[in-house]
Amino acid sequence: MSVHKEIRKVTTHVLLEMKLRGEKISMLTAYDFSMARLVDEARMDVILVGDSASNVMAGNETTLPITLDQMIYHGKSVVKGVKRALVVVDMPFGTYQGNSKEAVQSAIRIMKETHADAVKLEGGKEIIESVNRIISAGIPVMGHLGLMPQSIHKYGTYVVRAKEDEEAKKLISDAKLLEEAGCFAIVLEKIPASLGEKVSSELKTPIIGIGAGGGVDGQVLVIHDMLGITQEFSPRFLRRYHNLAAEIKGAVGAYIEDVKSKDFPNDKEQY
Ligand code: KIV
Repeated sequence: MSVHKEIRKVTTHVLLEMKLRGEKISMLTAYDFSMARLVDEARMDVILVGDSASNVMAGNETTLPITLDQMIYHGKSVVKGVKRALVVVDMPFGTYQGNSKEAVQSAIRIMKETHADAVKLEGGKEIIESVNRIISAGIPVMGHLGLMPQSIHKYGTYVVRAKEDEEAKKLISDAKLLEEAGCFAIVLEKIPASLGEKVSSELKTPIIGIGAGGGVDGQVLVIHDMLGITQEFSPRFLRRYHNLAAEIKGAVGAYIEDVKSKDFPNDKEQY
């Protein structure tokens, strides 16, 4: 008998089973090998190589500047660190909105070059042709509705979306379209909790929320936010599990002090 415990890889079907039995889905972003390995070893269900890499890794104001090559670089690094979690890579702005042929080519590049399990796109009706074509190519798609950061210049603000009836109705109809197209899960960002719960109860597709309340099928956060590495970003939905910014600055400060005082390296720390 093998002494190694078999690792059961999380698949899109596993997520569906989790929704059916009422087990919540955990999802977190990661952008590099070392962090992805830790997140996977902690038994995260889904790891998202989010285009939030544009903000937290590259220091951009928005997610718009990140390129397909950069997302592929992050995706490749993450996949190498993951054994169990389902890995989803965000399709960056400008690689799927133009036309569905370009969309499927971008998605194929992501899958071929990163070896990830799926891609994520923002939008409903407007991008449904791209979603259909990518799924037809055999690539699992995660949808993303509500606050869609790639459209920030259209909204002009990051406030809660779909508070009014008309926008809420459009969101529900978009979610149904994405389900019909065959999306295996949908992210709902920053919408009223009652709307999140409604969408989750009306759809068979697992719904993962970020600021969409507790009535959805799972939760996602940006790892830099929940670990307290980013300090300036404090929306109501964010729970900080650590204050890593203070810990990192403390450790770095101690190292500087030790170097300056000639305490580091000591006799045992040299050859
Ligand atoms: O890019 C990202 O990190 C995301 C999450 C906020 C869902 O899309």
